[in-house]
Amino acid sequence: MKAVVLVGGQGTRLRPLTDTRPKPMMNLVDRPFVEHQIDLLAHHGVRDIVFSCGYRPDALREHFGDGTAHGVRMRYVVDPEPLGTAGAVANAGDIIGADEVLVLNGDILTDLDLGAVIAAHHARGAEATIVLTPVEDPSAYGLVRLDADQRVTEFLEKPTPDQLIPGEPFLINAGTYVLSPAAVARIPRGRASSIERETFPVIAREGGLYGYPSDAYWRDIGTHGSYLDAHADVLAGRARTQTAVNGGAHAGEGVDVHDEADVHGHTVLGGGTRVRKGARVTDSVVGAGADVGEGARVERSILGDGVRVGRDASITGLMVIGDDAVVADGARLEGPGTVPTGGRVDETGRVWPNEEVA
Ligand code: GTP
Repeated sequence: MKAVVLVGGQGTRLRPLTDTRPKPMMNLVDRPFVEHQIDLLAHHGVRDIVFSCGYRPDALREHFGDGTAHGVRMRYVVDPEPLGTAGAVANAGDIIGADEVLVLNGDILTDLDLGAVIAAHHARGAEATIVLTPVEDPSAYGLVRLDADQRVTEFLEKPTPDQLIPGEPFLINAGTYVLSPAAVARIPRGRASSIERETFPVIAREGGLYGYPSDAYWRDIGTHGSYLDAHADVLAGRARTQTAVNGGAHAGEGVDVHDEADVHGHTVLGGGTRVRKGARVTDSVVGAGADVGEGARVERSILGDGVRVGRDASITGLMVIGDDAVVADGARLEGPGTVPTGGRVDETGRVWPNEEVA
């Protein structure tokens, strides 16, 4: 089985973190996010993988090369223009050939049993199978309705409240698909199209689309909050990955934490970070080479690479600080909010919820 991993999106909801790297190359604990997916594919014996790229493909190529170091064969296709989620599969058509293919959205953390999904796809003779995950609020996702044979009867992208039936299970498209050659052949080549809006509704109407509901761990890392929570889930072992689980914090190489600093909760310190005397870092992600000043406080926030936090500064409540930004001594940043890549907050700068510092 071949796999196509969709990694071409711009990751706009994760700005400013995605200003300097594509979303799949943002670290999740100890490795680029998408490497967790490559680990999952390899674990299930899927070793012939295509990255369908768009935005900043070079970062992926540099890290994964031909895949040898990761025990897989890795190939790349690049959208000439954004092709959407279906167009990006069709763009890999020459590599897929006449084979069936597993398609993964590049921003999903899951420990799904891929072998079981493929087996169910075959057992039903499906044209396409969509993995489904239960959620409480389906409004940001594709809501899928099934009949008793798990055939998809309806596919509602981003449903509005009046489209929901009280008491029904909210099963959403989990961004993992098995496509038969017939399904791939339906996608028009050379133009943008959406698998959720164009391809699946048509296959569903013709009766060839099946759902695979799963209770496996699943998280879309598309937003700041979910990106932060994904770290906690990996560190606590709620998501089963190849990362060593220690129940708490993770420190990269060359980290320098002062004896009188306090790092706790599900916190990740990137390589070469420095946490100075009296600083407190809780439930946060601190990028490589960042420097947290004396007495500073960082709580449930994300600091990009090379961020400098001044003495006694306070950064709390899901603040997101872009790479190489500088927060001056004593500044108070209370999120949710963002400081752009390379941004500066001066000593008098007090930033309140939802402010973006230009
Ligand atoms: P936002 O801009 O924050 O919505 O993120 P995104 O650009 O990643 O979009 P979205 O989360 O809807 O995309 C789902 C998956 O498909 C992600 O893994 C994207 O990388 C990928 N993707 C989305 N659009 C394209 C595209 O036009 N081309 C390619 N190759 N991949 C895409």
